[in-house]
Amino acid sequence: MTTVDLPLLPLGRGTDIASERGVDCPGDLPAASDPDLVARAQAAKAALGERVFVLGHHYQRDEVIQFADVTGDSFKLARDAAARPDAEFIVFCGVHFMAESADILTGPDQKVILPDLAAGCSMADMARIFQVEKTWDALTAAGIADSVVPVTYMNSSADIKAFCGRNGGVVCTSSNAETALEWAFDQKPDAKILFLPDQHLGRNTAVLKMGIPLDQCVVWNPLKPNGGLTAEELQNARMILWKGHCSVHGRFSPEVVDELRATIPDVQILVHPECQHEVVLKADLVGSTEFIIQTIEAAPAGSSWAIGTELNLVQRLAKAHPDKHITFLDKTVCYCSTMNRIDLPHFVWALESLVAGTVPNQITVDPETERWALTALERMLALPGRTHKD
Ligand code: 13P
Ligand code: SF4
Repeated sequence: MTTVDLPLLPLGRGTDIASERGVDCPGDLPAASDPDLVARAQAAKAALGERVFVLGHHYQRDEVIQFADVTGDSFKLARDAAARPDAEFIVFCGVHFMAESADILTGPDQKVILPDLAAGCSMADMARIFQVEKTWDALTAAGIADSVVPVTYMNSSADIKAFCGRNGGVVCTSSNAETALEWAFDQKPDAKILFLPDQHLGRNTAVLKMGIPLDQCVVWNPLKPNGGLTAEELQNARMILWKGHCSVHGRFSPEVVDELRATIPDVQILVHPECQHEVVLKADLVGSTEFIIQTIEAAPAGSSWAIGTELNLVQRLAKAHPDKHITFLDKTVCYCSTMNRIDLPHFVWALESLVAGTVPNQITVDPETERWALTALERMLALPGRTHKD
């Protein structure tokens, strides 16, 4: 088996002290049982006043999201990160790749803080820059790199965004993937797209939104020579999909969709495009977290929904809309474990550290990576569509 420097260890195989790095917070991490955590968070946020700007992704816990100045999906948070250039500290309640993007999109004097450094993303970790560079070499050797445009999902490390910026590519999110693919196909005659790292978002967008035949979407396995593809498969492909997926959205299955349709009359299935193609094919509606929220807000009272996305968001929607029947599209509990790393003790610890004059867990991207990642992010922000306040 090929050895790669993947930061995540398969369960039960060895130990990885670095994977627990966020737990060992310098100073005092308050106990989760501390009854004063909410009051402490309020007091620290009030003491920091305009100096701090808190961003919260929709998958964050209720206990944390209540303190966000802005909530949103990945696109909205990337755009809003730059909304408060006067704020000295951006506390990012989300995951590492989002905080990196916020650092890239904010001013040089602004400091981006991730309350727990262990809040990574298993999907982002499925593509490492050295693997992507090796892939590019293989595409060059196959004589097709000149026609390939790299597109990376926001859920990727800054160095992969920079790779896309340097090689004429773009970043996309789940809310603008179709526009980004259209842009990418327009960049070169007979363009092919290397789509990183989520094969499902790439396939769902290409096939269902752009009408690209399924057999022109091939999966590049970075652990196999030449991605496990023949020269002919590569030549015929329009979409070269990186073999990555979201461990949360990958759980939803077409069988559960069938079961729910059989048991809940008139249920509408609403899913995120990170779900498997077979699930999205059976769904009524598909879209980003922001789209899911807007759809439920606009839905009539009494309507029934089964939602395939992270459980914190589904539970929050169910609580906020007691007049609608909202079900989770999985039989088991399915939180994003890394999003859940940001809990109230870490949030309080981060804010109180700032009040005390130390900057904890600052996320910084080196200038050369930042320059090219910004190119790819700015190309995304300039795409037509969701670029204004929405
Ligand atoms: P969006 O917020 O863009 O829908 O992405 C979902 C997600 O998985 C973020 O990690
Ligand atoms: Fe990553 Fe999936 Fe969690 Fe989003 S929900 S942070 S893609 S593991």
